[in-house]
Amino acid sequence: MFDDTREFIEALRASGDLVEVEKEVSWDLELGAISRLACEKDGPAIWFKRIADYPDDITVLVNPMATWRRVAMAFGLAPDASIKDIYREYEKREGKLIPPVTVERGPCHEVVRRGSEVDLFDLPAPMLHEGDGGRYLGTWDLVVSRDPASQWVNWGTYRFMLYDSSHLTGFPRPTSHLGKMFQDYYVPRGEPMPIAIVIGADPLSHFAASATFHLGGDEAGLAGGLRGEPVDLVRCRTSDLLVPACAEIVIEGEVLPDRVGLEGPYGEYPGYRTGEMGNGILFRATAITHRKHPIFTVDATGYKDDSSTVTALSGALAIQKRLERHGVPVVDVYMPPEGAVHLAIVAVQYGGKEVARNILETLTSRRALISKIFMVEADIDIFDMGKVLHAFSTKCHPAHGVHVIHYEGRANTLTPCYSQGERVAQKGATVLFDCTWPGEWSREWETPVKATFDSIYSESVRRKVLERWRDYGFDK
Ligand SMILES: Cc1cc2nc3c(=O)[nH]c(=O)nc-3n(C[C@H](O)[C@H](O)[C@H](O)COP(=O)(O)O)c2cc1C
Repeated sequence: MFDDTREFIEALRASGDLVEVEKEVSWDLELGAISRLACEKDGPAIWFKRIADYPDDITVLVNPMATWRRVAMAFGLAPDASIKDIYREYEKREGKLIPPVTVERGPCHEVVRRGSEVDLFDLPAPMLHEGDGGRYLGTWDLVVSRDPASQWVNWGTYRFMLYDSSHLTGFPRPTSHLGKMFQDYYVPRGEPMPIAIVIGADPLSHFAASATFHLGGDEAGLAGGLRGEPVDLVRCRTSDLLVPACAEIVIEGEVLPDRVGLEGPYGEYPGYRTGEMGNGILFRATAITHRKHPIFTVDATGYKDDSSTVTALSGALAIQKRLERHGVPVVDVYMPPEGAVHLAIVAVQYGGKEVARNILETLTSRRALISKIFMVEADIDIFDMGKVLHAFSTKCHPAHGVHVIHYEGRANTLTPCYSQGERVAQKGATVLFDCTWPGEWSREWETPVKATFDSIYSESVRRKVLERWRDYGFDK
């Protein structure tokens, strides 16, 4: 398994999944535009070697896991592993947490700058999209925080924008674990919240931080489970938080309980800039530590970025488990990258009104991030969107097959189709399209017979055709 960003880069280079840009590029939109286009073309990860205004010994790696090939490789699978295989592998590994190990020293402390030596502008934070409120320093990051009441340590991926040379502003959603911890513990007590913003850890530690994992869940243990071996953690220099020792860069500091800073707007993961500049949390840096020749990691946020694979994959499996717990006859769940973590395909043994209602209530009772669901029967390959679209187009009754649930106070404020008013009230809705045959229809004479190669022909006809396929002139 990869122990750091550098080993992963080597593997990406060897498999042809990396472009190394030697030409100098500007941090001001050029890097962002190149990286956006690469994402939208399902292109490779990009390693920018020369950033204008910055010394050549700091380089930038963008979109490390924005394609299934790169996710497969991060898991140690063959780059062409199927999406289904990647899902099954994650499912297998996420059940076995392996606790981290604390070590005395780590490469992330090769260079240490504290107090007045800290200048956040030393890091090549890019201006990623036109219209962003500022340069984003935290995008592909892993933010460590701790709840003093329970000693629970949370890892999450949260964006951070440059505010001045020693401050960042951030936007953890109120329903996020970092947001909740800050509001529930630190703000009422007026205490600053120590956090560490880790940039460029090993790929599966980033995966664990971005993953949908339950409140109180141990993401460092999850990272170990995904890796099949523990993550080495080392103590920060200005707090007692623990960070991955292999990290390229760590920004240590605290979120101030009584201050806010203007943050955003930003070209967000659904692929739109939806908000205005608003009040974000204000972070004060106390130290920057890094490896020699640090590699600064970036997610060029938007359509088909790293969240569309990583967050969607872990989200789909979290949904599946919740549905199982609530008695839904669920078989499998998939969230396609094009759905921007807003769309889930749910395969069930049987559908119908009651199952639809159960799914909608279960998935929207707390934070309602998903707003569209296709419910299909188990014979549909949910990882093949062509098949899903076919089931939707042919089986979903336009009047009786559409189910909607409305809610307030827990909608996804980044969902582009919501109005500003809905966003403020966190008011939203989730629609489920039932693409299953009604249970009350007779399977003998009432239910349409599927007329595809796999379903309409006898075994002997299919075998004959497959055996002679090349002889007919195909696949030569
Ligand atoms: C690139 C990227 C950026 C993200 N930025 C944010 C963010 O700024 N705020 C937020 O609340 N969630 C953000 N997320 C989603 C969280 O990382 C994700 O929900 C994760 O599960 C951590 O969530 P937790 O708060 O449930 O622990 C981002 C995810 C990715 C992949």
